[in-house]
Amino acid sequence: MGLKIIGTGAALPSKIVTNDDLTAYMETSDEWISQRTGIRQRRILSGSETLLELGTTAAKQAIGEAGIIPDEIDLLIVSTLGGDYKTPSLSCLLAGELGIDCVTLDINMACCGFLSALNTVKAYINAGMAKKALIVSAEALSRLANWTERSTCVLFGDAAAAAVLQEGDSDPIFSMQVTGKNGWEHLHALRSTDNCPFNDFEDEGRLHMNGQDIYKFAVSSITARINEVLDKCALTIDDIDKVLLHQANLRIIKGAVTRFGHPDKFPHNIENYGNTSSASVPLLLHEEAKNLRRGDKLILCAFGAGLSSAACLLEW
Ligand code: ACO
Repeated sequence: MGLKIIGTGAALPSKIVTNDDLTAYMETSDEWISQRTGIRQRRILSGSETLLELGTTAAKQAIGEAGIIPDEIDLLIVSTLGGDYKTPSLSCLLAGELGIDCVTLDINMACCGFLSALNTVKAYINAGMAKKALIVSAEALSRLANWTERSTCVLFGDAAAAAVLQEGDSDPIFSMQVTGKNGWEHLHALRSTDNCPFNDFEDEGRLHMNGQDIYKFAVSSITARINEVLDKCALTIDDIDKVLLHQANLRIIKGAVTRFGHPDKFPHNIENYGNTSSASVPLLLHEEAKNLRRGDKLILCAFGAGLSSAACLLEW
């Protein structure tokens, strides 16, 4: 049994923070950030804006595009590194906002979260446990970043993006990997222990990243995952219409283009949004959707904390 996306949506915080804006808070420059990463600006939640509001807006847009009513959704998956509350989950709160009563799950798979959600939707639909599923990837990296660490905080942005899925003709094919004990510490954030007197973790709970190790992991894992899905489907990159890569660094995207060729097949929007973790692939998909035709072959591919990497070949 296959799967198809019948609607997409996206929502962004109102506040635009340019590279020049950041120079008021840290020693950095537009030149450093844009040359090393391609990023020119990002959106950041500000004032009383919440991730739930972003997720709800993106979800409603995807549902509207799909031409269905919210009640038809029987599976809601949110991918997030953390919602507005530690509990209840963002998917529970979002179900409430949408007025739907269905299976809800939050998935925390960092930047691979949308692909993990897609893989889970495939399992539910194949098992006959859902007919229509909604995935919302909603991320507020601005809340996790260490704003005193200039080599990481400049990379991230906040966003939500959504997709509605139902049974389709073509089965999505996945390649997914975690590196296990090897390398996870290069990208992590420890849960801060707040006020429990019985444990002694001393960490402010912010994101730590060894940029150069993650860079090397990104380049090798993108190549491995894309080649694995191509091999599984007996296709080559020539048969693929678009490759939607996780938007972490323009140099990483250009590295993939050098490896696979076809720069026109690798769209990017990192210039405008920075790295929005699991929202980055569905946000790019939403922006590219207007250029896609039914039957186009897409590869979605992401990498991130875990260390995890994932790719999926999907027919539009
Ligand atoms: N502004 C100005 N200078 C800076 C800044 C900044 N914002 N940040 C670091 N520097 C300085 C450093 O202090 C260092 O100075 P020094 O040479 O005097 O010591 C110099 O710039 C070089 O720093 P590096 O960290 O070595 O820079 P690098 O070229 O490795 O680029 C970067 C850093 C952009 C983070 C790169 O390593 C990278 O993109 N890595 C991959 C990150 C990634 O893909 N993450 C995705 C996974 S995370 C997720 O998706 C949730």
